[in-house]
Amino acid sequence: PLVSGTEILQAARKGGYAIGAFNTNNLEWTQAILQAAEAKKAPVLIQTSMGAAKYMGGYKLVVNMVKDLIESMNITVPVTLHLDHGDYEAALACIEAGYTSVMFDGSHLPFDENLKLAKDVVEKAHAKGVSVECEVGSIGGEEDGIIGTGELADIDECVQIANTGIDFLACGIGNIHGAYPSNWTGLAFDHLQAIANAVGQDMPLVLHGGSGIPADQIAKAISMGVSKINVNTEFQVLFAKATREYIEAGKDLEGKGFDPRQLLAPGKAAIVKEAEAHIDLFGSANKA
Ligand code: G3H
Ligand code: ZN
Repeated sequence: PLVSGTEILQAARKGGYAIGAFNTNNLEWTQAILQAAEAKKAPVLIQTSMGAAKYMGGYKLVVNMVKDLIESMNITVPVTLHLDHGDYEAALACIEAGYTSVMFDGSHLPFDENLKLAKDVVEKAHAKGVSVECEVGSIGGEEDGIIGTGELADIDECVQIANTGIDFLACGIGNIHGAYPSNWTGLAFDHLQAIANAVGQDMPLVLHGGSGIPADQIAKAISMGVSKINVNTEFQVLFAKATREYIEAGKDLEGKGFDPRQLLAPGKAAIVKEAEAHIDLFGSANKA
């Protein structure tokens, strides 16, 4: 069933595990994520960026696709359809379109503005049973070729955003979108612990930039209150790699190998495998 993120993340926060929040880009990725979650009996978040939803044909199409796949694939595990890094307009549009969870990312705005819009999104989302994630302290990553180092979220700002009534909180703790640079010093665990203490045990924390974080750091972060881990880049890389291998082996030239249903199958299988591995790593298998 399609559910809000509140219950599955509260259960994860209390149970000491994390739910995988996997970005989708198309039909095959969505099928792969659902297949992996069902195989592992794991609650799962499927998320789209604003750009991915636009690419696929809009929020309504994404809602209908996920709903229809849940039915046709006989998916029994709880699934949350979440907007990833949305602006204010996108958050409102997704609440209307039928997403069951939204991230309003106002981390780049002046803090007062972030706070004000967060309150407004919470009010509108909760009126429809939709869960809300907000972000404090921008998460580093490659943008226009510049690699950020990852910013540490201000603790007082985390508390103020948490108090708006949001359901889960993303905060910068040295995490970075995309590949981690070779001189990355790891997650700032003291800072994560301080944020967890300040916002309290009922607030699930979100770790962005999940691709490439070593397993021991993932486990430590979960033990400190991280309940949702976002993964995107790793799937993109593995999908591309599997597709490249298929083509380089000349399989698109054998028989009906050029049929897109065959051409995209290795990439899709790679995503199923990787999603299952993440679910195991995050401890959410058999939690549905
Ligand atoms: O919001 C999306 C994530 O934070 C994904 O980060 O591409 O580094 O896995 P990633
Ligand atoms: Zn992110």
